[in-house]
Amino acid sequence: MEKLIVQGGKRLHGSVNISGSKNASLPILAAALLTDEPIRISRVPDVSDTNYMIQILSQLGASVERSSGTVRIESPDGISSMASYEQVRKMRASICLLGPMMARMHRCTLPLPGGCVIGDRPVDLHLRAIQSLGARVRVKGGNMIIEAPNGLVGTTIDMRGENGPTVLGTDNLMMAAVLAHGTTVIESAAREPEVVDLANFLIRMGARIEGAGSRTITIHGVERLHGCDHTVIPDRIEAGTFMVAAAMMGDKEKGVRLNRICREHMTVISDLLVECGHSVKYNDAGTSAVVKPATEPKGGKIVTAPYSGYPTDMQAQMTALFALTPGLSVVKDTIFPQRFMHCAELGRMGANIKVDSGTAVISGVEALSGAPVRASDLRASAALVLAALAAEGETEIRRLHHIDRGYELLDDKLLMLGADVRRAPDVNNCDCD
Ligand code: EPU
Repeated sequence: MEKLIVQGGKRLHGSVNISGSKNASLPILAAALLTDEPIRISRVPDVSDTNYMIQILSQLGASVERSSGTVRIESPDGISSMASYEQVRKMRASICLLGPMMARMHRCTLPLPGGCVIGDRPVDLHLRAIQSLGARVRVKGGNMIIEAPNGLVGTTIDMRGENGPTVLGTDNLMMAAVLAHGTTVIESAAREPEVVDLANFLIRMGARIEGAGSRTITIHGVERLHGCDHTVIPDRIEAGTFMVAAAMMGDKEKGVRLNRICREHMTVISDLLVECGHSVKYNDAGTSAVVKPATEPKGGKIVTAPYSGYPTDMQAQMTALFALTPGLSVVKDTIFPQRFMHCAELGRMGANIKVDSGTAVISGVEALSGAPVRASDLRASAALVLAALAAEGETEIRRLHHIDRGYELLDDKLLMLGADVRRAPDVNNCDCD
């Protein structure tokens, strides 16, 4: 185990390159199983979640090579239809193997993902979708055994759950439907840019998909897909995290420049920062932005919602910013109402946050003070790093593996911006929950 030691109070300056999207890369890597021809995917971030996915693909029998952000995958006929619990338990997103495995082999055995610190995270919608395409699902020994001996057949499916559309559920259904007989219509589909990136990748492979990015996606099944090259979209959540870092600790005159971003995907994130008084100026192409802190920051209100609403994956980072913003701010997470583990840790640093029924009420304080804190999940860890950058004194963030799941070279990038951060082995870590 490692920890991150942050000496707070250093102003950030210069520029940072945003990596490719983790959440777009994961289903795209899984979709490589849909063909036996070579696939080349560029700008795959080197984070532990993409590494887990690559390990699973290799374990299934695909040959995978990775070098400097590019992953080359070839999945010959005869790949295994059984994923091992040891690999899958490391990452909930491994559920997105379900669609491509069912499309390619018409059967698969996948360990049921367990609970998760950010909420229950059921997979009922994924299973309902694959059943609608004609598959049978059994649960035995902790595994989902899914079979469609006569192949998958297209139909119309409404993917809306109690908390809105599902991102990986939409991905799974789209990947299952591309090789199904006939036409599949996904109603209440997720509209996230990562879903659109997956659809564009599948279209490059020869799939016939219309409407990705809207609430209704239509997929006409084809006989086979072929190899292709694809470049993953920029990571809007990593970009948002650096925008918040710049709003909290950026140089007041020059700010921080973020490169390799996509303005269209960032609108709701940067609009909120601007409403709170911070400055976000994009270049004409919308591929880079300079973010400067407000002279008189204002609090705000977030209600998370499916895209194009405010992303649940950014609420923890904004909570860290609101902790140091005068006045009251409110953060309500409608997608994962239990996703507030970071608030108690921010409290150890002096933040004044009350959490009740999926809502955090944050009363801004003048200063936070460094403290030993524990990361509980990916975005919670990001919030703690942001708070630590602004806090007085030293913060030690334990259980750093959470941040390594989704932020490529975070400490190197922060060092380049002038932060005082270093990694160290965590010999005293007590991993009690
Ligand atoms: N849901 C169900 N049943 C299902 C599936 C989902 O009830 O079968 C519920 C969930 O419990 C949640 C809502 O539907 O309340 C939306 O969850 P969704 O399925 O969209 O989440 P996901 O696809 O499993 C992806 C991201 C998450 C991100 C969510 C929401 C990936 C790999 N993960 O998860 O990212 O929070 O969408 O936008 O794409 C992260 O990067 O830190 C992360 C957790």
